[in-house]
Amino acid sequence: MRFESLIGFALLVVAGLWPLRAAAQMYAAIFNFGDSLADAGNLVVDGIPEYLATARLPYGMTYFGYPTGRVSDGRLVVDFIAQELGLPLLPPSKAHNASFHRGANFAITGGTSLDTSFFEAHGMGHTVWNSGSLHTQLRWFEDMKPSICNSPKECRDLFRRSLFIVGEFGGNDYAAALGAFLPLQKVHTFVPHIVDSIGKGIEKLIAEGAVELVVPGVLPIGCFPVYLSIFLKQRPEMYGPRSGCIKDLNTLSWVHNALLQRKIAELRKKHPGVRIMYADYYTAVTQFVLHADNWGFLKQTPRTCCGAPGVGQYNFNLTSKCGEPGAYACDDPSNHWNWDGVHLTEAAYGHIAKGWLYGPFADPPILEARQR
Ligand SMILES: *[C@@H]1O[C@H](CO)[C@@H](O)[C@H](O)[C@H]1NC(C)=O
Ligand SMILES: *[C@@H]1O[C@H](CO)[C@@H](O)[C@H](O)[C@H]1NC(C)=O
Repeated sequence: MRFESLIGFALLVVAGLWPLRAAAQMYAAIFNFGDSLADAGNLVVDGIPEYLATARLPYGMTYFGYPTGRVSDGRLVVDFIAQELGLPLLPPSKAHNASFHRGANFAITGGTSLDTSFFEAHGMGHTVWNSGSLHTQLRWFEDMKPSICNSPKECRDLFRRSLFIVGEFGGNDYAAALGAFLPLQKVHTFVPHIVDSIGKGIEKLIAEGAVELVVPGVLPIGCFPVYLSIFLKQRPEMYGPRSGCIKDLNTLSWVHNALLQRKIAELRKKHPGVRIMYADYYTAVTQFVLHADNWGFLKQTPRTCCGAPGVGQYNFNLTSKCGEPGAYACDDPSNHWNWDGVHLTEAAYGHIAKGWLYGPFADPPILEARQR
């Protein structure tokens, strides 16, 4: 190698390392809110409830080797982000005897954007399973403050130096509405409520002193075996010709994400000193479906790694879901993006985390070089 190219190489290496180091110094802690896409074990801190199949093997098989309450075969996006930023994996906020000085994960399986009262008022009381809405999680955050900072000033100072990840929220809100078999038109009327609630959550955190917030959108739910199985129909025009996903359900997700980004734009204007990053699950999963081989995934109709044969080609069976008798994990979860019909594999989460940190799946990326 010529001397000049060696220098070029060295510069590249330095340039490549720089954002990581800057960020590692920048974030004192990470505080995360969300649902089963981010739950690090909040439902299982006092033991594994009988009903909770997601806290049994093969959940956890790839990374931890045992179930942790994470609804995947291994790490979630928030775990990859913590590791990449040089922080410890965030303990679930309900953990006893954990240290939360470098962050806490308030996400809980079943978490919604809206409070239970909304679902009850709209006739979905029976289909919602809400273990902790965004605003409930924010109360848990409030309750934790005395154990992580000693004065309002100290708290604000810590939060100013922390990264807040708010979501995704909405997936379970829509699941409650779709599970009640409300007409899609009706479900669309809930979108502004769900997005407004997320906006209010962001503003509560900004009021606490947060200045760096990541706000993820929802997944393209029409690509998920759970919905593909439940809504199995014969009309070919329902499906994307290349993706095999249900178009109308993806439109619902798309509209949510568009409104959420509009809300974020509003909040950026209102709070100029605050950096709000939109994090994109939707485009990432669409890429996994349409260009599977670019990501090391098998090219196939959306199909779970862990499950049992059911209707269609999805390897998803509602009476034999991953973690339940009769369901098995595929040999190599790393070549599937879909883990259990509802959630993603560690491999998929790893790609998404990278895309949020460095682009292209975030606007702006978390580690975008910036002046402060
Ligand atoms: C809590 O942590 C302390 C220090 O790490 C340890 O000595 C103690 O045994 C722990 N208690 C429980 C109940 O795990
Ligand atoms: C789904 O699983 C159950 C057993 O758990 C089985 O009886 C049923 O045939 C399966 N459905 C399909 C369509 O294979």
